[in-house]
Amino acid sequence: MNNFEFKNPTKIIFGKDTIAKITTEIPSEAKVLLLYGGGSIKKNGIYDQVRAALSDIETIEFGGIPANPEYDTLLKALDVIKEEKITYLLAVGGGSVIDGTKFLSAAALYDGDTPWDILEKGIKTEEGMPFGTVLTLPATGSEMNSGAVITRKETKQKLAMGGPGLFPEFSVLDPQVVTSIPERQLANGITDAFMHVLEQYLTYPIGALLQDRFAESILQTLIEVAPKVLKDPTDYKATTNFMWSCTMALNGLIQKGVPTDWAVHGIGHELTALFGIDHARTLAIIAPSHYKFNLDTKKEKLAQYGERVWNITEGDIEEKAKAAIQKTEEFFNGLGIDTKLSKYTDEYKGTAETIAKRFTDRGWTGLGEHKSLTPDNVQEIVEMAY
Ligand code: NZQ
Ligand code: ZN
Repeated sequence: MNNFEFKNPTKIIFGKDTIAKITTEIPSEAKVLLLYGGGSIKKNGIYDQVRAALSDIETIEFGGIPANPEYDTLLKALDVIKEEKITYLLAVGGGSVIDGTKFLSAAALYDGDTPWDILEKGIKTEEGMPFGTVLTLPATGSEMNSGAVITRKETKQKLAMGGPGLFPEFSVLDPQVVTSIPERQLANGITDAFMHVLEQYLTYPIGALLQDRFAESILQTLIEVAPKVLKDPTDYKATTNFMWSCTMALNGLIQKGVPTDWAVHGIGHELTALFGIDHARTLAIIAPSHYKFNLDTKKEKLAQYGERVWNITEGDIEEKAKAAIQKTEEFFNGLGIDTKLSKYTDEYKGTAETIAKRFTDRGWTGLGEHKSLTPDNVQEIVEMAY
């Protein structure tokens, strides 16, 4: 196992009817900006619960943060923060609203030329404006990590940012919010969390027995609850396990002391930037090709995953590894998620070259756990996913 340090300061408030607890988490003298997305929270009662909890705290609001949070929209929220002298941010939404809020937390205290530099120059945020979250969509893990991904439509870019100053102070996880989530987003959430685990687990053995079993248990839990959540999002037992699995998949714990990959996310973000495909679906498109392309370097962990998670008992290491990739693709297909780019766009030809060129231009020459994947390799992986 590699050396590591682990600190995660986010307080999790988990369970039924917990939204009211934000009252005691936000300082009473704060001036709050409540941030939300396209308005789902006004239809499912979450907005009313949040507003009731904030009744004694000075609050103004900013709605309309789109899925794949857009830089231009966030700049308008930044103006509000500055004009209104906001001191505390509250994100009420899924990964997009929470990520947008993280960008604002960083940008509010940033004194450089343009806040876009935080993304383009990869500036780490050591200190941001304090914020909390009320999670409405289990998927990204953003509610308990310090990363964010921001989109700029104008230039078709989708870039990541983060830093130790960007952990939420608290996150409220009430699994009852799952009740109103459309099936497409439920399938996305399961897939995104599943892929977060695979990106931190499907590398090479390093003797981290506990981290491997953390990862496998999250995968097994997701596989077990996925059909139940999709069939009946009011099934509280299933949704509690779904929600906690998504958070645990990307709160930093399972990646400590082990190599991580993240190439699937790197390539997937480009597919969202180019075609607007939902984040989770881009991962389901790229993952099978990525694992097939890198079979040689990943086969031991792939076979372990096949044995322990999918109960594959037949064949040698390579056969088990291949069967595990097949099982993964079938799992995504079973959630209603297509795993070929051509199912999402007719304009797919040339995508591989475009993405390879973008990586070359950015100087991204060593992706994957061995930092060995070149833009040419990425081109091949994307072509295999057509
Ligand atoms: O905008 P509203 O009206 O809220 O509707 C949203 C949106 O249309 C809807 N929704 C959310 N909660 C709902 C609900 N509808 C009904 N009932 C509810 N309770 O769902 C739609 C999608 O929401 P979004 O926040 O975009 O989804 P998700 O949570 O999947 O977030 C995706 C974003 O997170 C980034 C992705 O790249 C993408 O931009 N990621 C962030 C990560 C992180 N910070 O750690 C890691 C991930 O790998 C990912 O990259
Ligand atoms: Zn993801």
